[in-house]
Amino acid sequence: MIKPNPFTPQSGWEPKIFGGRLEQVEHFEKTLAEAAATRANHMVIIGQWGIGKTTLLKQFKKIAQANGYPASYCPISQVKEHSSVSSAINLISQEIVNGLPQPIKEPGQIKQKLQPQVQFTRFLQELWPQLKAKVAVVLLDDVQNLATVSSIIDMLRAVLSKEEIINDTRFLFVLASTTEGWDNFVNKHDPVGRFFRRREMIGKLTYPETEAVIASTLEKSGVVFDPRVVAEIFRYTQGHPYELQLLASHLFEAQLEGRVGLTEWVPAFRNTLRELGKDYFESLAERASDREKEVLLVLAEARGPLAQGEIRRIMIVEKHAKNFPVANIKNFLYRLQNKGLIRRLDDGTFQILDPIFGEYILSSAQ
Ligand SMILES: Nc1ncnc2c1ncn2[C@@H]1O[C@H](COP(=O)(O)OP(=O)(O)OP(=O)(O)O)[C@@H](O)[C@H]1O
Ligand SMILES: [Mg+2]
Repeated sequence: MIKPNPFTPQSGWEPKIFGGRLEQVEHFEKTLAEAAATRANHMVIIGQWGIGKTTLLKQFKKIAQANGYPASYCPISQVKEHSSVSSAINLISQEIVNGLPQPIKEPGQIKQKLQPQVQFTRFLQELWPQLKAKVAVVLLDDVQNLATVSSIIDMLRAVLSKEEIINDTRFLFVLASTTEGWDNFVNKHDPVGRFFRRREMIGKLTYPETEAVIASTLEKSGVVFDPRVVAEIFRYTQGHPYELQLLASHLFEAQLEGRVGLTEWVPAFRNTLRELGKDYFESLAERASDREKEVLLVLAEARGPLAQGEIRRIMIVEKHAKNFPVANIKNFLYRLQNKGLIRRLDDGTFQILDPIFGEYILSSAQ
């Protein structure tokens, strides 16, 4: 019997098997114990799209509650351009209450007329006694959505530094943000970077972690993947959690008599590329100008790192790109890197962001 597809190719879907992140989990457990014993050292989780920020926060919630500490998972939705800090604070307060596992009497009238900072301090002070806990964990996901009211993060810092909050309550805040989103807060509000010092950058899973996630997810599903398929999944996704769930999910769908081999690879990969294209790569590629796209294509075709001089040679000798401003290649590379489309390696060569994105560029150039 083939069981339902066990992979979870969707932003925010909890994976059947939670892979890797040993270090982050250990740090969180340590921070939790410190919070219970002495004081809360608030944390920030930073990482690119689909890397597993939401999943990690939800894992933290489980760990906190298994230890007897209530935790509230709060997704922050996009805040409109002209929203006031005060209304954003109300939204966050509401999410905190809604996300808690126990019944909460809505903290009393918080007057809109109060300064947002005072308003949020009162909210935490009124909430705390109801929780009857040693520590309460607040997990704020997607804080980059607060960009239009960016001072709110600085306000949060100010509130959490207040003596009365430190002495009378014990909230532990864990924020999650995209990398650019967080940089934006830190650049605009200097003290924010210093305050949230516990920064966890999360990246791709390692090969053994990827292999273990696939094998354990497939367990009892009635489907097995050929080891060469698993090696190919890693070669292309390099352990990116969302890409790996999506690709593995398509491969699962392609099983014949419970087996997935290299024959099933091609159509499954094509479908994965199409979906990633719609969801993400299209808008990523649009960041590049036409000239930059030509350089991007050279890097995609190389399927590996290239030095600047080599790119120039390919343009002139192989592509006969007579009108291409080769003198500007350095600038194009710089801009592509800033836009997050390519990476500069330690030896000074350049590589396209990730292999699947490279394949997408190749397929859309045809
Ligand atoms: N540690 C993990 N092990 C296995 N799968 C994971 C892990 N973390 C995340 N995933 C899977 O990867 C995908 C993306 O995860 P998640 O939504 O948590 O990422 P995110 O960084 O919050 O993404 P977004 O930028 O969309 O908010 C989901 O399909 C999830 O099931
Ligand atoms: Mg998320």
